[in-house]
Amino acid sequence: MIVLGSDNFGKKLAKCLGVKFVLIEKRIFPDGEVCPRILGSINNHCLLAERMKLPIDSNRYLIEILLTIKNLKYLGAKKIDLVMPYFVYSRQDKIFRKGEPFSAQYVLELLEKARVNRFFTVSSHVDREREGISLTKMPAYNIDGFEILGRYFKKLNLQNPIVVGSDFGVSKSTKIISKILGVKDIAFEKHRDLKTGKITLKGKLTLKNKDLIIVDDIVSSGETMLKVIDLAKRNRAKKIYSAVVHALNEKAIKLISKKVEKFVATDTIDSPISKISVIEKIAEKIKELEF
Ligand code: R5P
Repeated sequence: MIVLGSDNFGKKLAKCLGVKFVLIEKRIFPDGEVCPRILGSINNHCLLAERMKLPIDSNRYLIEILLTIKNLKYLGAKKIDLVMPYFVYSRQDKIFRKGEPFSAQYVLELLEKARVNRFFTVSSHVDREREGISLTKMPAYNIDGFEILGRYFKKLNLQNPIVVGSDFGVSKSTKIISKILGVKDIAFEKHRDLKTGKITLKGKLTLKNKDLIIVDDIVSSGETMLKVIDLAKRNRAKKIYSAVVHALNEKAIKLISKKVEKFVATDTIDSPISKISVIEKIAEKIKELEF
């Protein structure tokens, strides 16, 4: 096996797996078209490990991946694994309104048709509480990023904090962290207006003088996290820490970081707060399977 990628993420993964790393050079033509170039020789089994950096461009990223997979096939790869640390389009994990695409499923279909053999991602919005992804026949592994966040907070030794989930959708994941820390957790009931995107939160809180760790899988507009922070402050929480698996937006990162003690994320996206690495856990999963 070899690992291919364009940044340190792939390089470190190759090191953890003890295999050769081949660099991909990213080129963008003046008209916006992409031309990812493989800068080395490949072998039968290729693992493509690419992540996005900020500002994210999911469309460009997806096309680069599809072109690289086709190119690997053309160059003779027999088996191709894809590590997509943040599964793009996974938030459209159903048809919310008539006429919309079922994007998460269609993206998986595109990858399957491009002949990806195995798909690895981290805390995907699709099947977010499960280890596998049910929308595809391709073996697809959903590696838990919340446990990694939990282990990070364990090292910080906070005094009996409460773990707060921004909505019931992440409540099981919130529990993973509270269990590691041996503390209580709570979750809000969140409603997002499908047309305007406006968020409302419901929940009963007694947070006076408590330290909080607010967790979510994603920060995108930042609206959810900011709402929870404001609510927590109004309920007189003491110190507030925020943590997400995928930090997708720099403006949101800046706004949130100003309001809390610390805002951290995993390195599924290359962002200024992506200090907690998922690479070892991905490597463990790959080693556990046959490779
Ligand atoms: C929603 O289901 C997710 O768990 C996140 O709460 C959401 O995607 C965050 O998005 P935003 O930062 O735009 O509020």
